[in-house]
This record gives sequence, C-alpha cells and structure tokens, in this order.
Amino acid sequence: MTAVTTEAPAGVRVRGLTRVFGDRTVLDGVDLDIAPGEFVALLGASGTGKSTLLRALAGLDGEGHGDIGVPDRRAVVYQEHRLLPWSRVWKNVVLGLRGGDLRRRADAALAEVGLAARADAWPLTLSGGESQRVALARALVRTPELLLLDEPFGALDALTRLKAQALVADLWAEHRPAVLLVTHDVEEALLLADRALLLSGGRIAREYPVALPRPRSLEDPRFTALRRDLLDGLGVAPPPAPAEPEETT
Ligand SMILES: Nc1ncnc2c1ncn2[C@@H]1O[C@H](COP(=O)(O)OP(=O)(O)OP(=O)(O)O)[C@@H](O)[C@H]1O
Ligand SMILES: [Mg+2]
Repeated sequence: MTAVTTEAPAGVRVRGLTRVFGDRTVLDGVDLDIAPGEFVALLGASGTGKSTLLRALAGLDGEGHGDIGVPDRRAVVYQEHRLLPWSRVWKNVVLGLRGGDLRRRADAALAEVGLAARADAWPLTLSGGESQRVALARALVRTPELLLLDEPFGALDALTRLKAQALVADLWAEHRPAVLLVTHDVEEALLLADRALLLSGGRIAREYPVALPRPRSLEDPRFTALRRDLLDGLGVAPPPAPAEPEETT
C-alpha cells in the first residue's frame, strides 16, 4: 500500500514512488517536490506514467509503493471534462459538496471562468472549451491547495486552448495553488510553469527551471532556447532551419 501522508500541507513531497502493472514497472522510484504555490509541468512520451503519477497524487490509486505527501484539498481536471449530462452546469460544479450556499459558490466559481451566464445550462449545450472551463470551476470551488491537471486542454482547438491557458495563468496567479500540469505541449509548459519536469524511465529524468517573467512571450529568445532544450530532452528534433536558396547562376 502507498503511504499517503499529509505532512506536506500545501505542497507535494514524493519519495521513492514505484508502481508496477503486471510485470511492467511504470514508476520506478519517483522523487518529486512541488513547493506551495509552485506551478510544475510534467512532460514525457506517451505511456511513461504521467497519468499514473497524477492519479497517485490525487489519491485515486492506492496500489503503489513509496511515500506521498500531499495537501488534503486537491482537485483534478482531466482531458475530458467528465460533467454529468443530467445535472445542470452549476450542480456539476458543486457535485459532492455540502453546505447551504452551494448555488452562490457555484455561481462565484463560474464567474471566475467567465461562465456565470451558463449556470443553468445543460452540459450537452456547451462547447468543448466551455465544458473544460466548467471543469476548472468545479476544481476551483474546492479551493484546492494542489491542482492536478491531466492534459486539460489536449482536446481543444488552438485558439480555445490559448484562451484556456491564459485563464489558468490568471486563476493560478489569483489563488496560488500548487499545480502539477501534465501536458504534451512544450509551449504550454513553458508559458505556464515555474519548472518543467521530464518523466522518463520511470523517474523524473530531467528538470528545466523556467525563470522567465510573466506573462511570457513565444518570441522571447530565452523562451525559444528553453523550447529547444525541452524538445531535445523529449527526443524531438527541432524543425530544420530554412534552407538557403540555391544559387542558380
Ligand atoms: N490500470 C492499469 N492497468 C494496467 N496497465 C496500466 C494501467 N494504467 C496504466 N497502465 C499502463 O502504464 C503505462 C503508463 O500509463 P499512463 O496512463 O500513466 O501514461 P501517460 O504517460 O499518461 O501516457 P499518455 O501521454 O499517453 O497519456 C502505460 O503503458 C499503461 O498501459
Ligand atoms: Mg496520460
């Protein structure tokens, strides 16, 4: 059994986390620290165990070995929004919560993601981007000290994705939870995170501090250099420089 403790009250402290499926060791002694309020991005090839690690931090997988210190108040947003179609939007936001002022809390969280006007809508009438914003509101209403995001914008079109990234940047600046963002998008990681981690071979194989002022610009030469480093770490060759036009004399 995984020893889940709450000795890291507002951050994350994982030591030696190992998770085996059958004869496959997916996580092989992961050590991970996230400071309170820190934004960390987690990258790695498909199947390296990113979601497995996130599930362990969320407390959704008790089958690993090792020590996991996480705050009590955690919330998860997945690639698919996981809204219940038979409950109105505001009820989805406060699903599972108790208290007298749930409607007010749901409305406040929906206002933060720009969806106050859709509180009474049915989930099936929302766009993909709106549904993800409701999922974010559902996380926010729990005032998490640790926000776990598993490719939350992976299914969105490019423009909606940029807007959702900006929204997450704003919400993080406002509420300052510790964040672990799983993403395949190197630019997303570098736009949002204080640090990017590369999961490979069952461990955090490399770490890339992102010491750039916010808001960040894709055009910043330091951003470009970091992107190259990170793509290199992922084993993705950057696109070749445009070829010089050939002399035709
Ligand atoms: N419940 C399970 N039973 C058996 N194998 C599993 C289970 N969950 C995950 N795995 C295996 O563990 C490995 C890591 O899975 P995981 O979902 O963590 O990868 P990932 O890094 O999130 O990949 P992706 O980027 O594609 O989402 C995969 O090979 C997967 O098949
Ligand atoms: Mg995954």
